[in-house]
Amino acid sequence: MAETAQPATCVVEYDTLTPMAKSVATDKPDTMHELKLEKLEPGTNYFYRVTCTTADGAKIAGEILTFQTAVGEDDAWSFAVIGDTQRNPAVTAKIAKLMWERRPHFAIHCGDVVDDGANKAQWVGDLFAAGNKLFSRVPLYPCIGNHEKNHANYYKYFALPKPEYYYSFRYGNAEFFSLDTNTLRSISIQPGGEQYDWLDKALANSKAAWKIVFHHHPVYSSDADDYGNTSKAKSTNGDLRLTALGKLYEKHDVDLVFNGHIHLYERSWPVRGGKVDAERGVTHITSGGGGGRLEDFGPTPTWFKAECRVDYHYCYLSVQGGTLNFKAFDQEGRLFDQYSKRKR
Ligand SMILES: [Fe+2]
Ligand SMILES: [Fe+2]
Repeated sequence: MAETAQPATCVVEYDTLTPMAKSVATDKPDTMHELKLEKLEPGTNYFYRVTCTTADGAKIAGEILTFQTAVGEDDAWSFAVIGDTQRNPAVTAKIAKLMWERRPHFAIHCGDVVDDGANKAQWVGDLFAAGNKLFSRVPLYPCIGNHEKNHANYYKYFALPKPEYYYSFRYGNAEFFSLDTNTLRSISIQPGGEQYDWLDKALANSKAAWKIVFHHHPVYSSDADDYGNTSKAKSTNGDLRLTALGKLYEKHDVDLVFNGHIHLYERSWPVRGGKVDAERGVTHITSGGGGGRLEDFGPTPTWFKAECRVDYHYCYLSVQGGTLNFKAFDQEGRLFDQYSKRKR
């Protein structure tokens, strides 16, 4: 994806070495450019450069950048997690830099990528400019948050598999499932709904060793006031619209669920049937620390909470065969949580 201020045609040169011999081009002038590079070798490093030309012949050429195609089933791989960047480019830049320093194979975003999906300046300036180094070299897979407002910008700035508001992708020995849990799609995530039924089938058919789901809203949360004000009343400790999804994850032995929306960090114990189940439970991780104003936890611990922290942060996971290592780092790059999961 590339964007220019004026209508232009766009060429992407690419190859495994420089000077680059291959290229693809758009056929008519536009301000938004989406080009597909096909027949790439898996697990291979590529160079690429984007050059755009306006009708009056002015050329804008980007620097030579890099990407790596997805690794194979038996390779080791890694990914980073960020959420709720909202509108805080100073913090987003700091977190994106730390993510980039770990050289993840790709990144996922738990939604609320901007504060106002309709505001172009936030996409261009607060999100993409702040995270440029990471986003120009590392694929980013988002899920849509409430602050995107289901605006066309979300679908314009991200090239996602259809129908875009939900999708799945394979990477290494894992499969990822991205859902839209916004109010507009509340019916879609209940049994009989489009996303729910798709996910039920997709999880049942998945041959991947690791199954990871991500969406914006939490099935479980120890937050202070999003699900009942804990200073004077009970909390439902999560979004009840997602209760059925939570059960579906248990039915299909999903390993990890990532969400944002709550501007905090929380990792649950593995849960199953409303109880901690260290052997067969599903781990839920709230990672909403990419820049949005920090929230707080309720005053008393919940039954599912393993770790929690109020700070800007990101997560980093590395996977090799049946071993998954999870780490969470704060905005100064300090490790504050980790755990591992092994399977045969
Ligand atoms: Fe948010
Ligand atoms: Fe949100």
